[in-house]
Amino acid sequence: MSTEEQGGQKTAASKIAPATGKLGVMVVGLGAVATTMIAGVEAVRRGLAKPIGSLTQMGRIRLGKRTDNHSPLIKDFVPIANLNDVVFTGWDIFTDNVYEAAAHAKVLDEKMLTQLKPYLETIKPMPAVFDQYYVKRLHGTNVKTGKTKRDLANQVMEDIKAFQKTVDRVVVIWAASTEIFIEPTAVHQSIEAFEAGLDNNDIAISSSQIYAYAALSLGVPFANGAPNLTVDFPAMVALSKKNSAPICGRDFKTGQTFMKTVLAPAFKARMLGVSGWFSTNILGNRDGEVLDDPQSFKTKEESKLGSLDYIFQPELYPDLYKDLYHKIRINYYPPRGDDKEAWDNIDIFGWLGYPMQIKVNFLCRDSILAAPIALDLIMFMDLAKRTPSLQSIGIQEWLSFYLKAPQTAEGLYPEHDLFIQSMKLKNTLRHIMGVDLITHLGLEYYD
Ligand SMILES: NC(=O)c1ccc[n+]([C@@H]2O[C@H](COP(=O)([O-])OP(=O)(O)OC[C@H]3O[C@@H](n4cnc5c(N)ncnc54)[C@H](O)[C@@H]3O)[C@@H](O)[C@H]2O)c1
Repeated sequence: MSTEEQGGQKTAASKIAPATGKLGVMVVGLGAVATTMIAGVEAVRRGLAKPIGSLTQMGRIRLGKRTDNHSPLIKDFVPIANLNDVVFTGWDIFTDNVYEAAAHAKVLDEKMLTQLKPYLETIKPMPAVFDQYYVKRLHGTNVKTGKTKRDLANQVMEDIKAFQKTVDRVVVIWAASTEIFIEPTAVHQSIEAFEAGLDNNDIAISSSQIYAYAALSLGVPFANGAPNLTVDFPAMVALSKKNSAPICGRDFKTGQTFMKTVLAPAFKARMLGVSGWFSTNILGNRDGEVLDDPQSFKTKEESKLGSLDYIFQPELYPDLYKDLYHKIRINYYPPRGDDKEAWDNIDIFGWLGYPMQIKVNFLCRDSILAAPIALDLIMFMDLAKRTPSLQSIGIQEWLSFYLKAPQTAEGLYPEHDLFIQSMKLKNTLRHIMGVDLITHLGLEYYD
C-alpha cells in the first residue's frame, strides 16, 4: 500500500472474519422504513433498481495519495455481506406480511410492489413485545404475553435462537415506532439491576429495551433507528462489551437533521453567527401519527435538538451562538403520507452583526431516505461483529454518520458534523483494514 498523505498513522491489519454464508437480519417493526428497505434490497438483487443512498453498496473510498488514483468500492475493500446472502425476518404488533405492510405504507409504487409480491409475502412478522404504555397511539394484536418482562425477553431470545439455526450470523435493528420519553433510572445502571428490573416488571424498562437485552445477551449486534432510550445506558453498554455484541444508536439521520448537520458546520467554519433556527415539518404516515402524541414527540424533539448545540459550541463562541433560539415542530398531516415536507428558517448574521436569512424547503420522502441508512447500519454492524478491534468495544461511534443523536462513550460529547462523521467512518474502515489513514494534510505534494 502506498504511503498516506503526511501525518497519517499506519495501523496493523486486524484479522476480520469473512462474510461468508447467510446474514440474518431481524427487524423490530415492519413498518414504512423496514418494508422500504426489505423491498428495496430485493429490487436491487433482481436488478430492478439501484441502491441509491447506500454507502456500502455504491460508495467508494480513496486509498493512498490523490496521485495514486485508487478508490475502490467500499464493498470491495472491506468484507461486508453480499446482498444475495441477506435473509430478513422481524416482529410487529400487526400481522400484515411485508407485502401488505409495504402496500399500507404507500412508499413504493404498486408496479414495483407487484413485481416483488411473491417474495415479500413470505416475510411474516413474529408476535411482538409491546405495551401501549410506551407507544400511546398504537393498538396491536400480534403481541407476546408473559408474566414478567424477563419472560418476554426469553421469548425474544427463543425467536433469535430459532432464526440463528437457519443462517450464519444475525443482526437486530429497531425500526419500530418511537416510544415515550424515558430517562435512565437506577435500573439502567448495571446488568444486575436491569435483570432484577426484568423480574420486577420495572416501568422504566420499555419494549425496545427488552429486545435489545435479548439480542445482546446472545452476542447479537443491535442498532437503534429510533430516538427512544434503548441501548444508551450503562447496563446495555456493559452487556454489549461482555458478549462482544456491537451497539449503536440513536435515530436514523434522514431529512431535516441531515440538512442541519451539513449547514451548521458551514456557518461555524466561516464564523457566521446564528440567532434563530426554526424547523417545522408536516408528515402523514404512521410515524407522524405516533409522533402526534406529546410523549413520543418529546423523545423525538430531544433527539433533534442536540445537534446544533454540539456543533456550534456556544460556550466557546458566545458572540456567535449563545443567544440561538432553536425551535422544532412536527405536525401530523395525513394527506401527505410518507412525503414529508420540512421548512427551516435560519436567521444568521455576518460581518459587524448584519442579519441575513436562509430558507430551506425540503420535500423529502422519509422512508426513501431512511431505507439505505438502515441497510448500511446492518451491513456495518455485521462487519463490526466480525472485526476483532471493534467487536468488544460496545458503542460503534464510527457509525454516528447515520444517526441523529449518536451514542458515545460516557463523558464524550457526540460529533454531529456530517463531514467529520464521514471522515471518521472512512478512516475506521482504513484502520481495520490496516491501510494508511487519510488526514488531508497533503504537504508532500509540494515538497
Ligand atoms: N422514516 C424516517 O425517515 C425516519 C427517520 C428517523 C427515524 N425514524 C424512526 O424509525 C421508526 C420507524 O419509522 P416508520 O416510518 O417505519 O414508522 P411506522 O409506523 O411505519 O413503522 C413502525 C412499525 O413498528 C411497529 N411497532 C411498534 N412498536 C413495536 C414493538 N414494540 N415491536 C414490534 N413492532 C412494533 C408498528 O406496528 C409499525 O408497523 C420510528 O421510530 C421513526 O421515528 C424514521
